[in-house]
Amino acid sequence: MIIAPSLLACDFGRFADETRRAAKAGADWLHLDIMDGHFVPNISFGPGVVRAIRPLTRLTFDLHLMCTKPEILLESFARAGADLITVHVELGDRVGPLLWKIRSLGKKVGLAVNPPTAIANVLPFLDQIDLLLVMTVNPGFGGQPFIHEMLPKIQQAAAWRRERGLDYRIEVDGGINLATAADCARAGADTFVSGTGLFGQRNLRAAMRKMNLIVRRARAAATER
Ligand code: DX5
Ligand code: ZN
Repeated sequence: MIIAPSLLACDFGRFADETRRAAKAGADWLHLDIMDGHFVPNISFGPGVVRAIRPLTRLTFDLHLMCTKPEILLESFARAGADLITVHVELGDRVGPLLWKIRSLGKKVGLAVNPPTAIANVLPFLDQIDLLLVMTVNPGFGGQPFIHEMLPKIQQAAAWRRERGLDYRIEVDGGINLATAADCARAGADTFVSGTGLFGQRNLRAAMRKMNLIVRRARAAATER
């Protein structure tokens, strides 16, 4: 089980301190939301910020690209210090070449699916990815409520993984708190992105520990059944 605090919810005036805070608090990964003001109606930060915080920690940098043209950004983000780069399945015909390009840059490969998009769209790519990101809100902003109708998508992703003997991670992102993380863990998720649910806590370490414990318990109870 991996807990990945999302830097989108940190104090944007203190990227460096907030990165150190997440690392010191024992985060597994750091989730970095890249928004281009076109694929989603918001802009976050770019390769310059990623490069600036890279020397501060050895945490895995999990980049979530909400961008219409990732092809023009992949090399910069790879050089800036990404470990894993996720692009969206909504990009259609370009998804195959994009996944290949990420792999050729020596990075782990992720594929994301938005709430209105059918999960079947990811099927052709399952054997090419390290991570499948099931969005549990419409991307663009932190602090939105979890969309419960996404739980069957997680179950489907877990069933495909089992049936096909694959080992991609199943990541959830959007509205993840202790209760919704447990629901996702029961459905088969193993990687939990949380922005406001974690960075808003004064004691980040305690909040992440609690989330980790709860998802492990939820998963164990689900597999016993
Ligand atoms: C949403 C982003 C998320 C965001 C989640 O567009 O992809 O990673 O940071 O924020 P919370 O956890 O506040 O819903
Ligand atoms: Zn994200």
